[in-house]
Amino acid sequence: MVWKKGLTLKDLKAHHLIQKYMVLGNMYIGHIGAIEHNIEHAELTASICYDILDSLGYPRREAELAAIAGYLHDIGNLVNRDGHGMSGAIIGFHLLLELGMDPAEIALVLGAIGNHEEQAEGEAVNNLAAALILADKSDVHRSRVRKEDVAEFTPRDRVNYAVTSSVLIVDPDTRKITLKMEINTEVSSVMGYFDIFLTKMVMCHRAAEHLYCHFELIINDTRLL
Ligand SMILES: [Fe+2]
Ligand SMILES: [Fe+2]
Repeated sequence: MVWKKGLTLKDLKAHHLIQKYMVLGNMYIGHIGAIEHNIEHAELTASICYDILDSLGYPRREAELAAIAGYLHDIGNLVNRDGHGMSGAIIGFHLLLELGMDPAEIALVLGAIGNHEEQAEGEAVNNLAAALILADKSDVHRSRVRKEDVAEFTPRDRVNYAVTSSVLIVDPDTRKITLKMEINTEVSSVMGYFDIFLTKMVMCHRAAEHLYCHFELIINDTRLL
């Protein structure tokens, strides 16, 4: 087997199955009322992953690998929402091996995918995992809520729907990573956000520490963490 040096996100997107599986997985979990985990979420997560590592001065190749992990991270939804980080890592293993990616690089990507879920006690086990946790957890927005009837909203739908803007700012000089959000408090209170997202914010805090950074959370211009 010849390993392909420098497999890129572009090469990954050209694979005949990857996008199909991601679209199907998102459709399946849509049937059980989950929020959107569509290609836009994958694209956004991939580009934030790249930016985090690149702006903090990590090697470009490591940033590209983080983008690959970011793009693939929710592919396990195809198997089951529960444990989708684990199943996603296994699916990713087969796909990346088939694409001829360097096994040492595959290992980094799998560690990141398998550690992005708070339910599976995900941890920043490597730099890619840290970037992926921060990128994924910062994509909170009303556009991800699929339900149209507010009466059917789960608490997670309500909080996502309340978020009208969300941006992750990385400052390499102060080594501060800030998640800045605007929440419509008529839809959900800031406390409502904490109820749902506290575990995710703890993960972000640890992920930032792994990258020798400090994590800050600002909601409606008030610093909360
Ligand atoms: Fe996920
Ligand atoms: Fe995700």
